[in-house]
Amino acid sequence: MVECINRDDEQIRFIQITDPHLFKEKTGELLGINTYNSFRQVVNEIQQSETDYQFVLATGDLVQDSSEEGYLNFCHIIHPLGKPVYWIPGNHDFQPVMRKVFAQQSYIYADKHLLLGDKWQVLLLDSQVYGVPHGELSQYQLDWLDEKLQEYQEYYSLIVLHHHLLSTNSVWLDQHNLRNAHELLHILQKYENVRGILHGHIHQQVDAQWNGYQLMCTPATGVQFKPDNNVFTLDTLQPAWREISLMPDGTIETQVHRIQQAKFLPNMHELGY
Ligand SMILES: [Fe+2]
Repeated sequence: MVECINRDDEQIRFIQITDPHLFKEKTGELLGINTYNSFRQVVNEIQQSETDYQFVLATGDLVQDSSEEGYLNFCHIIHPLGKPVYWIPGNHDFQPVMRKVFAQQSYIYADKHLLLGDKWQVLLLDSQVYGVPHGELSQYQLDWLDEKLQEYQEYYSLIVLHHHLLSTNSVWLDQHNLRNAHELLHILQKYENVRGILHGHIHQQVDAQWNGYQLMCTPATGVQFKPDNNVFTLDTLQPAWREISLMPDGTIETQVHRIQQAKFLPNMHELGY
């Protein structure tokens, strides 16, 4: 558990980046996009935006090829932001290497329970099922979530995981969703103060409601998937990040920003990944 001291009336502000899919080689491409360069451009534009925020949250699929060098590339790109970084794994991550590399960085924290001031908690879940693209929350994860929501009932809660809960209207992508969303919902509904759910994985923006909770998905820092297509379809929208403010009254204010100063276009003829 990590605690961050805030005055009562202050909002908690952080930045989410997701799905960089980096490689061992800085020249590595995913579906025609150099993911090292696109992620670096996102970080550059975050820096230039002079946004005021307290930490960075990376929501999985940080590396595509399980390489130590890929995770070191992540560190090299994110380090100049000069902020604490928290993370969860995605389906593509290789946690033994991920943990080892991140444990060597003083500004990257493995904590999954963030107590932020005396109003908010952020709970970071691991929905990875090793070796497959879909997600599932293990009994351990569900029990841990239940325990924290019970213990800190007076705190507003934001739940963070990699996989998606709401249909993207794309059969190819929805087969890779969180398989036991009903079990997650069953736990959340026991408590009054759960306010939002934040994820990555589907490489597209979602700002919606799911069973009364504010649901947010942030586009990838590289390749974008086009919603509402039953077959694999890429999008020409640009890499992005999200700003999130957790307000003292329990509401969440948020905005997605796409890069403006460069253009990354995928190979639109790719048939899958
Ligand atoms: Fe993913």
